[in-house]
Amino acid sequence: MVCADRAAKLPAVPVRIATRADLPAVQAIYQDAVLRSTATLDLEPMQPDEAETWFRSFGTLDPLVVEEEGGAIRGFAYYANYKSRPGYVHTKEISVYVDEAHRRQGVGSALYHDLIRRARSSGVHALVATLSGPNEPSEALHRRYGFERIGCLPEAGFKFGRFLDVSIWHRLL
Ligand SMILES: CC(C)(COP(=O)(O)OP(=O)(O)OC[C@H]1O[C@@H](n2cnc3c(N)ncnc32)[C@H](O)[C@@H]1OP(=O)(O)O)[C@@H](O)C(=O)NCCC(=O)NCCS
Repeated sequence: MVCADRAAKLPAVPVRIATRADLPAVQAIYQDAVLRSTATLDLEPMQPDEAETWFRSFGTLDPLVVEEEGGAIRGFAYYANYKSRPGYVHTKEISVYVDEAHRRQGVGSALYHDLIRRARSSGVHALVATLSGPNEPSEALHRRYGFERIGCLPEAGFKFGRFLDVSIWHRLL
C-alpha cells in the first residue's frame, strides 16, 4: 500500500514544532473539543498548571507540532506513550485537533504528514489512535494516512450523558 505521507502530493501548509508561546492557542483549540465534542473523553479543560506540565512532556523525539497560517495556530498534533509500561516503548498514541473554522483545508493532513515522518525518523514502530464516538472526519483522516481500524471497545466512553464506542486504529511504520 502507498500511504499518503509517502506519496508525491504533499500538503502545502507549514507545520513546525510548537513553542511555549503557542500554548494558549493550542489550549483554546483543545478546550473547544473538550467542551463541545466527543472527539476527546476529557470532560474539563486543562487547568493552567496542567497545561504547562503537558507542554513540558514533549521533546525533540516526541514533539508537539502546530500548523500556523498568517500568525494564527490552526491545529496541532502530537504522539505520546501508548502505555507507560516499558515494553510498549516503541508504540505511540497519536492525536490531532484542528480549529473548527479551518477544517477541511488540509491542516490535519499537513500535521499528520509531518508528525508521521518525525515518528518514523525517531524510531517509532507502531502508531495507535483511539477514536471515541462517531467521528467520520477523523476516521477518514486516519484511513488516508494508512491506519486500519482493528477493533472497538463498545461503550467504553461516557460523555454528555451517554456511552460511546471507542475504536482502535493502528499503523505500523
Ligand atoms: C479530524 C480532523 C483533525 C481533520 O482535520 P482537517 O484539517 O479537517 O482534515 P483535512 O482537511 O486534512 O482532510 C483530510 C481528509 O480527511 C477526510 N475528512 C476531513 N474532514 C472530513 C469530513 N468532515 N467528512 C468526511 N471526511 C473528512 C477527507 O478524506 C479529507 O480529505 P479531502 O478533503 O481531500 O477529501 C478535524 O476534523 C478535527 O480536528 N476534528 C475534531 C478533533 C478530532 O476529532 N480529532 C481526532 C481525535 S483522534
